[in-house]
Amino acid sequence: MERKSIMKRIFEINPWKVVTHKFNKEDKRLQESMTAIGNDYMGMRGNFEEGYSADSLQGTYLAGVWFPDKTRVGWWKNGYPKYFGKSLNAPNFIGLGITVNGEKVDLAKVKFSDFELSLDMHQGLLSRSFVYEGKDVKVKFEFRRFLHIVQKEAALIEVKATVLEGHAKIDFDSTLDGTVVNEDSNYEEHFWDALGEDAKEKTIQVKTKPNPYEVPQFAVLLKESLRHDGQVIDREVSTKEAQLSEKLSMELDQGQSYELEKDVIVVTSRDVDEKDQLAVANELMNKLQAKSFDENLADHEAVWAKRWETSDVEISGDEAAQQGIRFNILQLFMTYYGEDKRLNVGPKGFTGEKYGGATYWDTEAYIVPMYLAVTKPEVTRALLQYRHDQLPGAYHNAKQQGLPGALFPMVTFNGIECHNEWEITFEEIHRNADIPFAISMYTKYTGDDSYVKNEGMDVLVGTARFWAARVHFSKWRNKYVMHGVTGPNEYENNVNNNWFTSTMARWLLKYTLERLPLATKEAQERVKVTDEEKAKWQDIADNIYLGEDKDLGIFLQQDDFLDKDIRPVSEIEDQRPINQHWSWDKILRSPFIKQADVLQGIYFLNDQYTMEQKEKNFDFYEPLTVHESSLSPCIHSILAAELGKQDKAVELYERTARLDLDNYNNDTVDGLHITSMSGSWLAIVQGFAGMRYNNDELSFKPFLPKKWSHYSFKINYRGRLLLVEMSDKAKITLISGEPLDIKLYDKQVHLEEGESANA
Ligand code: BGC
Repeated sequence: MERKSIMKRIFEINPWKVVTHKFNKEDKRLQESMTAIGNDYMGMRGNFEEGYSADSLQGTYLAGVWFPDKTRVGWWKNGYPKYFGKSLNAPNFIGLGITVNGEKVDLAKVKFSDFELSLDMHQGLLSRSFVYEGKDVKVKFEFRRFLHIVQKEAALIEVKATVLEGHAKIDFDSTLDGTVVNEDSNYEEHFWDALGEDAKEKTIQVKTKPNPYEVPQFAVLLKESLRHDGQVIDREVSTKEAQLSEKLSMELDQGQSYELEKDVIVVTSRDVDEKDQLAVANELMNKLQAKSFDENLADHEAVWAKRWETSDVEISGDEAAQQGIRFNILQLFMTYYGEDKRLNVGPKGFTGEKYGGATYWDTEAYIVPMYLAVTKPEVTRALLQYRHDQLPGAYHNAKQQGLPGALFPMVTFNGIECHNEWEITFEEIHRNADIPFAISMYTKYTGDDSYVKNEGMDVLVGTARFWAARVHFSKWRNKYVMHGVTGPNEYENNVNNNWFTSTMARWLLKYTLERLPLATKEAQERVKVTDEEKAKWQDIADNIYLGEDKDLGIFLQQDDFLDKDIRPVSEIEDQRPINQHWSWDKILRSPFIKQADVLQGIYFLNDQYTMEQKEKNFDFYEPLTVHESSLSPCIHSILAAELGKQDKAVELYERTARLDLDNYNNDTVDGLHITSMSGSWLAIVQGFAGMRYNNDELSFKPFLPKKWSHYSFKINYRGRLLLVEMSDKAKITLISGEPLDIKLYDKQVHLEEGESANA
């Protein structure tokens, strides 16, 4: 049966906008996810300012502000983390309630027309308008809001009311609300305590509840100020615990309009001590209000224009594909642009609670390879440093499992594992090689080996010690084996000899041994690797068991994989996504693969496998893959492109680029799949354009998808800016920087600044 792969497309196709003219209550959460905005300091779902009484997920999130929610499990197992780290649903500051002639404007209840909701991707400006139709009155409401990219603590919200018919008494109620809860709280606990409200200063201050886990409490102060025509207006303010409301009323006749601006400052104890927060917020508010809404927007836009200048991917001939990639780049940059080195990239960024803003292996595997080319090298280096800073947590995690060395967590805010499903916490350990793998990506791409020689060595040796203890020697096989693991394919647990995990562990040991003699003296002295250890690591690397089926020409995902009832996904199209149709037991026993597993390894270590090996494995595993992790389609798209399977590469590109816009996996209601958004960039750059960077050589093998007439993108490479264009021909231009030799298809070309190579 043919699968209707697009679950739902509720926004129109437009190259620079995510826009809709429809509003359906049943799509509200989906719409909120897709119109989320952020400024890599804070962010929120596309909730309505005036409130909404039907089903909705109110969500505002502050980067790095989280809470350790006491673990809830049916049966405690030794080694479980004590808490699950949650990105907190933070105080809601966009509230701007509206009443017209006594009726509360609530789109779940009132009559309205001419609805438009639009996210402008140039700068993440969210606009919305509708005409409220009451008894003998029609009022048009137009909203704009953005989170300032220059002054990160600032949110600007504007509403304009225009009376189209009749006479309107309009009451606005501007609110700050700290009484928010997380939907995913383990014990329905509220995570915030009120510290106080100040009607004169128009602030509320809240603090996360004390916790017994030595996780710092976060204090947050929010301040609002209303403006009309650029002038601050003071109105009656009332407060309740952790809440503030500022009311404003007016009478408007037909044809008249009124514009109200709500400015908000949010400061957190990550940057400002609790006791200084009011003074700092006042200062920031003054600074913000020295400029009008439009002047602030212009400053904000100028920074976004710069970001786009070096990172936009242009596609001609396929507007849906164009919209998809821009949406993804926008959402990624709204989540993280590397400006605060203490932060990382959460799988859902600021768009939902599930997975929230915690750090996963997603960062190293998916974000690093893109950010290396679209942001400054310092950004990737900061991501590497983030893990180095968290090494004490990684040592703690290994100890929890009774093992030496360092085990990086699957889910974390501070280095300590905070996920509590045993099959993931204890077993999905491939992360402990994937995370260090980013060190090699950084070193290879930038040519800068100063990290791997120094801090990187602490990470490599710590993880090598873990791996050396996690394998054991099987006398029967005469090989080292690795039992009880979960590969990236979480649709199998507790398997033995997962090829990907063992291959990556071997890579880690080999890379550590290769890099150790080149490390700085200080690093060598710090890590103190003995000869005995080195010999052991070498022995494991040489003798680890990696399953293979020679007849099929494939690597075995795990020991028992071929015992499964192997049949293609095409036979179960009507039952997908299987995670929403099948019992967990049925999924675990099935041959269906959640996401790239063996193929993830072939993608990572791409230069180590022959085309024949790549093809045989791809042809075997891809038809079994349901891509129910958003991280999956891009890896397959890249490999398909390399193998000349262009239609497949494009099909999987579309899936990765429009995963959220088309709600492919029927789960975008929970929030956007931020960390997999880089996948669409990777599919174009590493897939369609075939970019590789092995042995200090940058190379490209571009092809043009049939539907497209052109695409182009820019990358920075070792201090240079390059433009890659593909239409009926490939063209690579060295826009700026020192001369460079590259490989285009199989030809070496030398480029001077301003020169292009064509093929
Ligand atoms: C995937 C993991 C991923 C996590 C967060 C899961 O569904 O299987 O690989 O790390 O989502 O994105």
